[in-house]
Amino acid sequence: MRRKIVAANWKMNLNLAEAVHLAKDVRASESHYQCEIILFPSFVFLNDVAKELNGSTIALGAQNCSDKNAGAYTGEISAQMIASSGAAYVLVGHSERRLYNNETNFQLRDKIIQAMAAGLNVIFCCGEPLAIRGENRENEFVSRQLQETLFGLSAEQMKHIVIAYEPVWAIGTGLNATPLQAQDMHAYIRNQIAEKFGANHAAHLSILYGGSCKPDNAAELFACPDVDGGLIGGASLDANNFKAIIAAI
Ligand code: PGA
Repeated sequence: MRRKIVAANWKMNLNLAEAVHLAKDVRASESHYQCEIILFPSFVFLNDVAKELNGSTIALGAQNCSDKNAGAYTGEISAQMIASSGAAYVLVGHSERRLYNNETNFQLRDKIIQAMAAGLNVIFCCGEPLAIRGENRENEFVSRQLQETLFGLSAEQMKHIVIAYEPVWAIGTGLNATPLQAQDMHAYIRNQIAEKFGANHAAHLSILYGGSCKPDNAAELFACPDVDGGLIGGASLDANNFKAIIAAI
């Protein structure tokens, strides 16, 4: 009933030749994939990776977009530019951008509005830092992230949203959420969406898990009823590891 998705967030890694080679390697096994695959390379490689994926079912996305439409914003990259490079997705709200670039929920809401206007689909990342989980306030924290960014969207716009739950304490640390922790939060997020946009909408929303997802823990995470796939960082940089994670779905 729900789309299963495994996405690769390559972050600030790889050079042009390596990015194109990795895309080619992932594409080479595409006939075996049982789910949707999305690759998120650096902005500067979008066009080359798009060419490598031409005619394939593998989708392409950017790791960020500007909250502005166009104009005198030196160094910024608009959602329209991304769409014109052959990408269909954009990541919004990754915790590394929230932390290192001070992105606020309200700015993220504006990025989503720009993405929607450009016809892009959004993977919206949410998740709590360790201190918040230590205080058992993770539900309240994630709920606020959802409310301040997504709750102003129309039900029609929400059809273009995928949510990625990425506990900050699990990203790049080797510490993954347990299947129970992941399932509890995914069910909570789905319930929040159901209350705001209706049960039918929530039932069709794909919610991905991210945070130290690897070949050896992917199957148990993906087996959770509300986990519809993964957003993979470190392990997506190696084609064999990424394919093993895809196979786990
Ligand atoms: P990780 O990153 O798999 O390296 O923990 C996940 C992410 O940040 O999307």
